[in-house]
Amino acid sequence: MTEASAPSVPPGVDPNVPAPARLYDYYLGGTHNYPVDREAAEQIRKLIPELSDAAWANRGFHQRAARWIALQDVRQFIDIGSGLPTVGNTHEVVQRVDPAMRVVYVDHDPLVLAHSAPLLAGQRRTRAIQADLRKPDQLLSHPDLTGLIDFSQPTGLMMTWVMHFVADSDDPQGLVARYLAALAPGSYLALSHVTNEKTPPASVAAAEALYAKASEQLYFRPRADVQRFFDGLELISPCPNTAAEVVHTGDWGAEDPELADSDGSRWSWCGVARKS
Ligand SMILES: C[S@@+](CC[C@H](N)C(=O)[O-])C[C@H]1O[C@@H](n2cnc3c(N)ncnc32)[C@H](O)[C@@H]1O
Repeated sequence: MTEASAPSVPPGVDPNVPAPARLYDYYLGGTHNYPVDREAAEQIRKLIPELSDAAWANRGFHQRAARWIALQDVRQFIDIGSGLPTVGNTHEVVQRVDPAMRVVYVDHDPLVLAHSAPLLAGQRRTRAIQADLRKPDQLLSHPDLTGLIDFSQPTGLMMTWVMHFVADSDDPQGLVARYLAALAPGSYLALSHVTNEKTPPASVAAAEALYAKASEQLYFRPRADVQRFFDGLELISPCPNTAAEVVHTGDWGAEDPELADSDGSRWSWCGVARKS
């Protein structure tokens, strides 16, 4: 997808402080980032050489999960913590399944909106809004969201690599439950989250230190905590003939389970689940 011009430093963006959206964009090989992000990312890459693999394992999960949900009885998506436009954006993935699919992107970083707005100009079925997921009432009542999403119909809720930017004091599991409560039966949640369970402690400490200087802190969580995001939902089997459970990102929908089990993939847990 080609992109129309967006302001290089929009109001509300501090180009001197690394930001999760720009760091992730850099990990994925994108160009929507500043020198401060690139320097920070390269520091961390010295200790985590599989950084880009971890990001792509997550992005691959996001795309496979979105496509899988689009093949169910779902015709609309809310993508919270959507990030900067990249290759294979959610609306492109799901509108390939059905061009009538409706998608609302949500992110609190003004740079995401600045880059998304020109891309989505003139599109009737895809919108981007700026909102903080820690304020669910404001987010869910945003007129651009309520104008496109029909809450009486099933929705695909994408929350990939975002809840690890939410502190325990903000009740991350409670927030996800609040979003799910607003959605109709038959809706799906796709969620991924970084973990420190199978990763070297020095690398984890380096990542925590980097994000401590960024606009958002990073909170690693164990599998049991990630599992709790899916409480009350019916987890979907990540692959045919496998148990319905939370797995590493590469393993969800993997075509080749051996190749999918990469060092990068082990940095995250993920799952897809259905609301009854
Ligand atoms: C690592 S990116 C993930 C992008 C995409 N979901 C993916 O997995 O490919 C995380 C995004 O979440 C956004 N984010 C972090 N905290 C947020 C919050 N409280 N409300 C809304 N967006 C948030 C960041 O601005 C960033 O764009």
